[in-house]
Amino acid sequence: MDYQILKTSVADGIATVTVSRPQALNALNSDFFREMDALIPELGGRDDVKVLIITGEGKAFVAGADIAEMVRMTRAQGQEFSRWGQQTFRSLELLPKPVIAAVNGFALGGGCELALACDFRIASSKAKFGQPEVNLGVIPGYAATQRLPRLIGLGNALYLLLTAELIGAEEALRMGLVQKVVEPDALLPAASEIAKTIASKGPQAVQNVKRVARQGILTDFAAGCALESEAFGSLFEGEAAEGMRAFLEKRPPKWGG
Ligand code: CAA
Repeated sequence: MDYQILKTSVADGIATVTVSRPQALNALNSDFFREMDALIPELGGRDDVKVLIITGEGKAFVAGADIAEMVRMTRAQGQEFSRWGQQTFRSLELLPKPVIAAVNGFALGGGCELALACDFRIASSKAKFGQPEVNLGVIPGYAATQRLPRLIGLGNALYLLLTAELIGAEEALRMGLVQKVVEPDALLPAASEIAKTIASKGPQAVQNVKRVARQGILTDFAAGCALESEAFGSLFEGEAAEGMRAFLEKRPPKWGG
């Protein structure tokens, strides 16, 4: 695939993916989704990539789905555009590698939804978040109506979805929408540091934490606990022996793979 919108660099086990269509504030069009659908499995299959960071070029992370592309859509096309985006973003959640959103600027509509589909979010103090779809007479199409209430609670979610208010990074932090706020210049270094920390942990443990937490939140408590026990046990046939032995021998673990 010849990537025009997604620019990827890989170093130290971290793939940094930059959405680069700054002339349209990185708005999400069909080309973006075609590229994402190719890139996600590609990075998923690379042994030298342990953690992904997604960020945006210029003053926006992503300012939403591409309004110029959507304006002509029929009902059926609108439904299909929504389903496509939902599936692409779901594949980030299903990727067995952690994905961090490094939100550098506007994360609006579909852009906020992209950040929501990442495993957690680090924001520049200049970032702005919002779900302004109701301004356009539409609703979110990439699952913000579903992810936002699960992530920040129904009251906070409906406040953002119904008012279309843009909130700053500190307010997003207060709501639990982002996990950390840093100065703009410190955003990518901070995200990389966090990614490197995760990349240094037991890879099987990291993969299982993501899978069990993500599956568990979509099921009930007992079923989630059963998933956890099953995964916990499986690690005793994997890297747990090395991790615990290393602790007892007071040395760093040597993870395989
Ligand atoms: N789609 C298409 N183009 C967009 C865009 C979008 N979502 N957001 C910005 N652009 C374009 C603008 O049209 C403009 O293009 P031109 O230079 O050709 O006129 C360029 O990007 C720069 O934008 P502005 O001049 O508007 O920049 P600004 O700094 O004055 O304002 C902004 C920034 C407040 C983010 C404003 O651009 C804005 O409100 N954008 C739209 C945000 C929005 O409504 N997003 C939700 C989209 S709907 C959605 O996402 C549905 C879904 O869930 C599937």
